[in-house]
Amino acid sequence: MFNVVIADDYDLVSSEAFKIMRNVMNKENPVLGLTTGSSPIGLYKKMIADHNSNGTSYKKVVTFNLDEYIGIPRDHEQSYYTFMHENLFDSLDIREENIHIPHGDAEDLEAECARYEEELSKYSIDLQVLGIGVDGHIAFNEPGVQFDSLTHVMKLEEQTRRDNARFFDDDVDEVPTHAITMGLASIMKAAKIVVIATGANKADAVYGMVKGPKSPDCPASILQDHPDVTVILDNDAAFRIV
Ligand code: GLP
Repeated sequence: MFNVVIADDYDLVSSEAFKIMRNVMNKENPVLGLTTGSSPIGLYKKMIADHNSNGTSYKKVVTFNLDEYIGIPRDHEQSYYTFMHENLFDSLDIREENIHIPHGDAEDLEAECARYEEELSKYSIDLQVLGIGVDGHIAFNEPGVQFDSLTHVMKLEEQTRRDNARFFDDDVDEVPTHAITMGLASIMKAAKIVVIATGANKADAVYGMVKGPKSPDCPASILQDHPDVTVILDNDAAFRIV
């Protein structure tokens, strides 16, 4: 079930997402599912501003990130570990031991996937923040992925690597070819989901998610089966569904 919110600009999109986040932060021990990419950055800035001005504390917050590149170390400037620390965690009072991000540099990747899923199963995510890829991927679940997938290794589509090359000096060869990602079934367990998408290049993926056939061809279309998804869009990303 989708609740679609259309806002006029990116700041308003981020404010709408933050309203949902603030409600969840009122819980005793919030468990947050977090994502990387450009889409959540405005939300993260608002969380930091709220922490600084209102003293909202993250000491009791547990977080799980969706995914991590394989083949680059955690301290690489483009690892999702680095992204999350630079864009959010380093500015909050969250405890490092409450932060969960898959280890893309693990020697045994299958064991790492199993360990991550096991860790996830000890908690229930109150709010999962998602972006969406141009090809309809969520986390790094690319087209063709099984709807019942748990945390797994995924080969990245060329489109996804090209889209993410902007973070690797525009050199697609530098973008890792594989990632560890929470599966679609892992993501669907969250109590509440918010999807943030802006820009005309996301309009087809947004259409596939909200109105398209429910199919692994558009992994985000699985969200049609979730009871509580808010999709927050700007006008450009929304133009095919209005
Ligand atoms: C990456 C991430 C996704 C993210 C997507 C869109 O592929 N693995 O979780 O949603 O990019 O990113 P952006 O928000 O930068 O468009």
